[in-house]
Formats: sequence, C-alpha cells, structure tokens
Amino acid sequence: MPASLSTELLGSVFENPFMNASGVHCMYVNELDELSESKAGAFITKSSTPSERAGNPEPRYISVPLGSINSMGLPNQGFEYYLDYALQRQKKHPDSEPLFFSIAGMSIDENLSMLEKLQNSEFNGITELNLSCPNVPGKPQLAYDFELTKEILTRVFTFFKKPLGVKLPPYFDFAHFDIMAEILNGFPLAYVNCINSIGNGLFIDIDNESVVVKPKNGFGGIGGEYVKPTALANVRAFYTRLNPSIKVIGTGGIKNGKDVFEHLLCGATMVQIGTELQKEGVSIFERLESELKQVMNNKGYKTIDEFRGKLNSL
Ligand code: SIN
Repeated sequence: MPASLSTELLGSVFENPFMNASGVHCMYVNELDELSESKAGAFITKSSTPSERAGNPEPRYISVPLGSINSMGLPNQGFEYYLDYALQRQKKHPDSEPLFFSIAGMSIDENLSMLEKLQNSEFNGITELNLSCPNVPGKPQLAYDFELTKEILTRVFTFFKKPLGVKLPPYFDFAHFDIMAEILNGFPLAYVNCINSIGNGLFIDIDNESVVVKPKNGFGGIGGEYVKPTALANVRAFYTRLNPSIKVIGTGGIKNGKDVFEHLLCGATMVQIGTELQKEGVSIFERLESELKQVMNNKGYKTIDEFRGKLNSL
C-alpha cells in the first residue's frame, strides 16, 4: 500500500499537509482558485486589513541565493474581498476542505472588528490571526510583546467562537518559548503557525553597494533556506510545550520532501510553503507530494502519524 499523506486538523481530513504561506500566491481570486485546483491539501488567503492596502513601495520582494527578503507591507484587497471569496467558495463547493482566512489589522481594534465580522458571518473556515508581520513601518511585531498578546487573545476569546490560529514570529530563546507557550496554553486556540519570516534582515548587492529592497532602508523579512533551522526549532519548541489540543503548523525553509519530513518529525500537523512556492508556482505541491511519499516509502512509513513529533534526542 502506498504511503498516505492525509492529515487531520479540527475534525477535517486534508489529502496532504501542504499549504501556501499567507502572502504567497493568495492576493487575488485567480491565485486563490489556482491554489484550490492545485495539489495543496489546503490554502490560506493573504493577510487582510479592513480596507484595501497598496503596501510598501517596490522593489519589495527579492529572491536571493538561499531564500528571499521581503518588505511587502501587507498589500491586500481588503477584508471584504476575501470574505466574499470565502463565502462564495463555501456556497459553490460546500464539501471542500475548510479555507484558512488570514487577518492582520493595523491595531487591536482593527483585528477585533474583523474577527467580529467573521464571527457574525456564515464563514465556516479557520481564521489565522497574524501577530507577526515585520514589515509595516512603525508597527512592531505584536507577538514580541507578551503582555499585549495576552491582552489581545483575552479580548478575542470573549466573543470569538470559531476555530482560530495565530501566526507567530520566530523566537530565539528558551525563556521566550516558555513565556509564549504559557500564554498560548491559556486560550482555546486551534493552532499556532511557526514561523513568519525572520524579521528585519538585510541583504546587500555588493556590486552596487546597496540594499535590495526599497522600504525601511532595505530591512526585510528573511525566508527560504536561511530560516529552516529556526523554523524547525520553533515548531519543536511549541509542539513540546503546548497543550496537545493546540496544533502546530510548520512554515519556513521548505524546498523538498525531506524538509517537509523534518517539519512533521518536529511535530507539525500541516506545513506552509512561501519562498519556494513564489519561485516555482503551484506545481510545487505535486513535487512535494511525490518527494514526501518517497521519503516515507524509503523509511517504511505508511502514514504521517507514525512519525509526527517523534524526533529523537541524543
Ligand atoms: C507583508 O505583507 O509584509 C508580509 C506579511 C507578513 O510577513 O506577515
């Protein structure tokens, strides 16, 4: 029997654990439709703000040898655009897997107001609250402020009763893993998504002695191969600290089936692909599917549950 890649989250069974990372190939309806028709097991919308945003000036996304640097600044078509898409999809394809819907307000009130609208709508998918965008000038990444994160989640869960996950920035210290996990364990979260890009890196074009993205004097979020060890560490740190009811989505540095296997071994339930999806397009999901099956066949695994989270220590 060939290996099965099926994965369960919140009672829904997904054909495989692959998704796009929010921000990549999910700004417009045609891109979302391409994801829907691709081999991805699920997909997520671009993080939305209440109104349409143009985002930061270009150039704002550059592929570099081992990954990418971006300072997009949350360009998006506005909350209602994605909600319309979600509701129409539910109507047209009532049996399809749930849609992930990402929001990233510019303030706590904006987040609360979008969540209230989702709560009061017919939306029956999974919401992701992005607490970690590093690219809006003057707006620090929310999830680096532990008290504020706790306050936001406290306010959210007074009224939000639908499945909710949070997108986290990378953490780099055991003390921070511990503090954040303790906060997150206090709420009925569906999942945490580790990690957003490593914020505020700098990539330099030595010929021109220049930065490569325009916003923030060249500072931007780093993705791709550069970030895989940090992503794996965050997946593992939260998988081993969170209540088992809070799942972990692994994002960062996935290029091939072995990378996916590593994320799953660290405990990820689903995995998201950003930089490499941007480079390769949606055909990447078919390649990852056959590469992950190959890794599992070589190791004699028939299902992901046989090895998920079972990373050995020395
Ligand atoms: C962006 O639009 O700047 C990227 C989104 C994110 O990193 O959360």
